[in-house]
Amino acid sequence: MTTPHQIIIDTDPGQDDAVAILMALGSPQEIEILGITAVAGNVPLALTEKNARIVCELANRPDIRVFSGCDAPIARPLVTAEHVHGKTGLDGPTLPDPVMPLQDQHAVDFIIDTFRNAPAGSISLCTLGPLTNVAAALERAPDIAPKIKQIVMMGGAYFEVGNITPTAEFNIYVDPEAAKIVFGAGIPLVVLPLDVTHKTLVTKERNDAFRALPGKVGIAVAEMTDFFERFDKEKYGSTGAPLHDPTVIGYLLNPDLFQGREINVEIETGSDLTLGMTVADWWRVTDRPANALFIKDIDDEGFFTLLTERLATL
Ligand code: BDR
Ligand code: CA
Repeated sequence: MTTPHQIIIDTDPGQDDAVAILMALGSPQEIEILGITAVAGNVPLALTEKNARIVCELANRPDIRVFSGCDAPIARPLVTAEHVHGKTGLDGPTLPDPVMPLQDQHAVDFIIDTFRNAPAGSISLCTLGPLTNVAAALERAPDIAPKIKQIVMMGGAYFEVGNITPTAEFNIYVDPEAAKIVFGAGIPLVVLPLDVTHKTLVTKERNDAFRALPGKVGIAVAEMTDFFERFDKEKYGSTGAPLHDPTVIGYLLNPDLFQGREINVEIETGSDLTLGMTVADWWRVTDRPANALFIKDIDDEGFFTLLTERLATL
């Protein structure tokens, strides 16, 4: 048996974050979650940390440690996305308020301590929201950078350009200064941008497959994806809504489902017009060194089969 990936999930749930957490919880042979760190993003921090605990309890895992992190980006006011995710961030299913406690330690301290106390290259960070917590940890403790095995993140776009502005993806746009720190830290990065997630659509058949799973998790996931479908279908005119964040967990479980290129990616922090743009040198027209594996394609059938199979175990 192979050793499981040890991971910290940094997240701003969000329905698609919730599905990513559930996919990881449904894969205990391959993934050990050391902690979930909440950050402000889709909704304010008080809701994202609460939603993370709601999701753990939905999967009967109140033992998972959830930490609360930064409530605002490094240098800007918080931008949220209730227009996509609803007032609570987890609109759709009716789920009980969590009983499990929030950990006392701040998420940034947890990230720093965890990497300092672990062998180099043993733990991956999976980021599903704005990069504020991770950048704060790197600023405060630059010595952890060489200890991080990899950061697998949902964020950015090249061919699909933007979803919150014409040129920026939400997670990067909310805290571009944080993203700049993370992309410049010399840590192995795997980026799952909109270019991939816009090919990862929850069609009616896929939603029906979630709903047909035994137990309450499948129904809750179907109701969550139903909720943000309304917004996304109208916006994109597509057959289903993109399921962004679970691609991060899908990549950990089976990287062969994905294809991309090692390229240079820089973050725009100066321009009002293109703030938060991921300037991806896909065609390698500069001599800037590669700092990320930037994914472009996914075997979406294979991914949804894997996701549904993992949700079925919960
Ligand atoms: C990203 O933004 C959020 O709304 C989603 O949870 C995802 O992480 C997509 O741009
Ligand atoms: Ca997210």
